[in-house]
Amino acid sequence: MEQNEQKKTVFSAVQPTGTPTIGNYIGAMKNFVAMQDEHDCIYAVADLHSLTVDIAPAVLRKNVTEMTALFLAIGIDPEKSVFFVQSHVHEHAELTWILNCYTQFGEARRMTQFKEKSAKAPENVNVGLFDYPSLMAADILLYQTDLVPIGKDQMQHLELSRTIAERFNNRNGATFKVPEGVLPKYGKKIQSLGNPSAKMSKSSADANSYVLVLDTPEEIRRKFKRAVTDSDACIRYDPETKPGVSNLLTIYSAFTGKDMAASEKDFGGKDYAYLKDSVSDAVIEGLRPIKERYEKLIADKAYLTAVMKKGAESASYRARRTMSKVWRKLGFVRP
Ligand code: TRP
Repeated sequence: MEQNEQKKTVFSAVQPTGTPTIGNYIGAMKNFVAMQDEHDCIYAVADLHSLTVDIAPAVLRKNVTEMTALFLAIGIDPEKSVFFVQSHVHEHAELTWILNCYTQFGEARRMTQFKEKSAKAPENVNVGLFDYPSLMAADILLYQTDLVPIGKDQMQHLELSRTIAERFNNRNGATFKVPEGVLPKYGKKIQSLGNPSAKMSKSSADANSYVLVLDTPEEIRRKFKRAVTDSDACIRYDPETKPGVSNLLTIYSAFTGKDMAASEKDFGGKDYAYLKDSVSDAVIEGLRPIKERYEKLIADKAYLTAVMKKGAESASYRARRTMSKVWRKLGFVRP
């Protein structure tokens, strides 16, 4: 794809850690699709990042293929956007090393995700886990990115990417664009169906607390039926005192495209069973075409491989341009 100077450059990535939840979809991936028409978009499967937790080779291989199919299934168009697999463009690893030297130990140590993941797996607090934000900064800065659509939980990493870019530019002269994060209007954070004070996460022990984008209609209905609400039997958006109901309304808004006022209006005088049914309907209908496209794509490995190859070529070309600037500015002698 031609690089269009007028359009803003968008970059984002998703780790290949299995089928995403509707929280991941609403919080970030849905935005990726929406941004394609007006922006110069670059999207990646962040496979290098997924090595920071214990992952079996067979699982990684399967997950990368499935995530590729899913990106295409949700509507990422490889003719409009650059779509590739992170490890296919070696500049990501190279720039990470450079940016490591522009990241302070104290900054990386303060990252909430690092603290949480370390606490969760104390037997594997590897340096990669610590270094995760430098790799993420490299992903973003390699493409002279203007905008980064992300979920709220990644905002702290994006802030650190900005700090790193500014620090580098201050020492070496203008090299990187300083990116901005873009949060979705609704559904910045989708909560667990079983415990609405926690984020929806597929690592939860309660399999009914999250909906995956490839769940069957029956699974989706069952999970919403069990969703925790409250005893006040009134449907309104109030995340403080009614977190469960507000979460369902948020999901409804995200899938119907209605704003919160219109969504609340749909449920005037209705009961929670009706709300849960309506949310199930909206989610099932929204995911149906994705699921259908996914089934076709995952059966066509040759096509998926061809998409990955083409994407890696376009991304490499652009990554090389930034890296040659970086090497030169830092005084590296090049062959
Ligand atoms: N860390 C992100 C997540 O887990 C994934 C990611 C990797 C990313 N590199 C990125 C997101 C660059 C935005 C930009 O969700």
